Amino acid sequence: MTRKTKFPADSASESTHLVLPPDSNVHGTLFGGRIMEWMDVIAGIAAGRHAGGPVVTLSVDSIRFSRPINMADVVILKASVNYAGTTSMEVGVYVEREDPQNEHREHCLTGYFTFVAVDAAGRPRQVPILAPQTDKEKQRYQRAQERRAQRLDASTTK
Ligand SMILES: CC(C)(COP(=O)(O)OP(=O)(O)OC[C@H]1O[C@@H](n2cnc3c(N)ncnc32)[C@H](O)[C@@H]1OP(=O)(O)O)[C@@H](O)C(=O)NCCC(=O)NCCS
Repeated sequence: MTRKTKFPADSASESTHLVLPPDSNVHGTLFGGRIMEWMDVIAGIAAGRHAGGPVVTLSVDSIRFSRPINMADVVILKASVNYAGTTSMEVGVYVEREDPQNEHREHCLTGYFTFVAVDAAGRPRQVPILAPQTDKEKQRYQRAQERRAQRLDASTTK
């Protein structure tokens, strides 16, 4: 059977959250574990859309919080499938905070998640080919491929 092809735009996903008191830490800023949860969820939605079925999180690259996100900020997460192998996919999640006073947005962090599509028995299952279209998508594909090679290298040299 021929393998289906999909574009990054077919699975691109976005979520928007308001930072409420239960989401914050003792400093009154967004709790790191909450943002990681939101990132995993939106990344999983994008991966599942590309795979056309269930996926599981295999790994998450290191995440650096470059600026705090405050209580009552609006948080926007944009996820896109950067690369698809045979059964795995890398999803990039770009996170911005929006100041509700003036709608000014700034980038806070980016995370790279690897997902594997699975069948009913939890075994890896083939995913469609990813065909990047724009220059940005092609650049993301290339960089994701390099990161994947580094991850595989790191896991075999342990
Ligand atoms: C994810 C899982 C199904 C993979 O099973 P597995 O038998 O190890 O799978 P494989 O060795 O065939 O690898 C599957 C894919 O992951 C890739 N992979 C494996 N190790 C990797 C690593 N360190 N970095 C990046 N990709 C990796 C493989 O290259 C392969 O991708 P490809 O088919 O696109 O080439 C299995 O490890 C699992 O069930 N893990 C638990 C998942 C989980 O509970 N997540 C949290 C909740 S969702």
